[in-house]
Amino acid sequence: MTTTIRTRVAIVGAGPAGLILSQLLADAGVESVIVDSRSRVEIESTIRAGILEQNTVDLLRAIDPATRVDTVGHRHDGIELRFDGEGHRIDFPSLVGRSVWLYPQHEVLKDLLALRLGAGQDLRFGVTIDGVDDGDPTHPAVVGTDAHGEALRLEADFVVGADGSRSVVRAAVTGSRSGGYFREYPFAWFGILCEAPPSAQELIYSNSENGFALISQRSPEVQRMYFQCDPTTDAAAPSDAEIWDALQSRVPGTTLAEGPIIQRDVLRFRSFVAHELRRGRVALVGDAAHTVPPTGAKGMNLAIADVVLLAEALRSLLTESNERLIDSYAERALDRIWKAQHFSWWMTSMLHVAPDASDFDRRRQLGELRTVVSSEAGRAYLAEAYTGWPLH
Ligand code: PHB
Repeated sequence: MTTTIRTRVAIVGAGPAGLILSQLLADAGVESVIVDSRSRVEIESTIRAGILEQNTVDLLRAIDPATRVDTVGHRHDGIELRFDGEGHRIDFPSLVGRSVWLYPQHEVLKDLLALRLGAGQDLRFGVTIDGVDDGDPTHPAVVGTDAHGEALRLEADFVVGADGSRSVVRAAVTGSRSGGYFREYPFAWFGILCEAPPSAQELIYSNSENGFALISQRSPEVQRMYFQCDPTTDAAAPSDAEIWDALQSRVPGTTLAEGPIIQRDVLRFRSFVAHELRRGRVALVGDAAHTVPPTGAKGMNLAIADVVLLAEALRSLLTESNERLIDSYAERALDRIWKAQHFSWWMTSMLHVAPDASDFDRRRQLGELRTVVSSEAGRAYLAEAYTGWPLH
């Protein structure tokens, strides 16, 4: 028994990219179906990054009158770069007239799931996707197994892979599951959530002799912090005391408020851009198309920028039979993607201490950091990229 469903756009993945795409398409009168392998609870409880660009916030407010970005989220008008034992604030509004918001991704997802389900969106959880059947190039189909173990076939006019870094849809676009440009890094982040008051009002990106640390926040009671570690580190291995020692030693000049560690994880670093973002009537968005190291806080923002372009292109293709925008989707998306790749790589290389760094490398890095903070042009460059280039 196979259940066959017909839709205009089949979206694989109910993350920020897939959910926003379905909303933008619905606003343009284009119906879609979303499938995701995870349960709703899993989607709403997975801890991810938390910085939203000004553009992203403007878009969330425009599509969702009930967004909690202004009530649960917090506007941040700057970050601190710390190195050589001293803090240097980068003030976003005075440099570029924009800000960012600290609003964790799982909260964004709660808002978006409520929005789409409330609007009657056909959204199926627990669907295992086998792949895309593109035998009929104008009617690709997503094939898989639904949450009850029954075969599911989703026939569409267009298929979108918004299914994250382990995308199953990617093979239909690039010809293989992994086809793309890669860069691995010789370190990872050890991340914690802890029950403690904030140690700083804004994010601190700290470069120290002992490696990088990021002090972020979640709420008045819960904080998020990271420190650079070896990629093979076992998240369960260090004791709480060892974690606090590692963190404290990397933020010289600040005594972090400690508290019970309620979650710990190791985040691998990878830069990736798929060789192709679209083939025929199948396209990739978000982490399925590209991943960036988290240092630049670009992941979710970049996914949403892809979706803004793709939604307009699909509206034009499916309601006006105009192929101009879909034909230029990849090129226009890649323009921003490679800028974000560069920014994320740059922040990463400037702030982390590579395991094989020489004394020369270390002094050069401090020279680079001083160049950035001591010049208005340097600070503005960082602020412009961090708060986000304008959307199309
Ligand atoms: C976070 O709060 O989880 C966070 C913030 C900024 C980053 C990465 C992660 O660059």
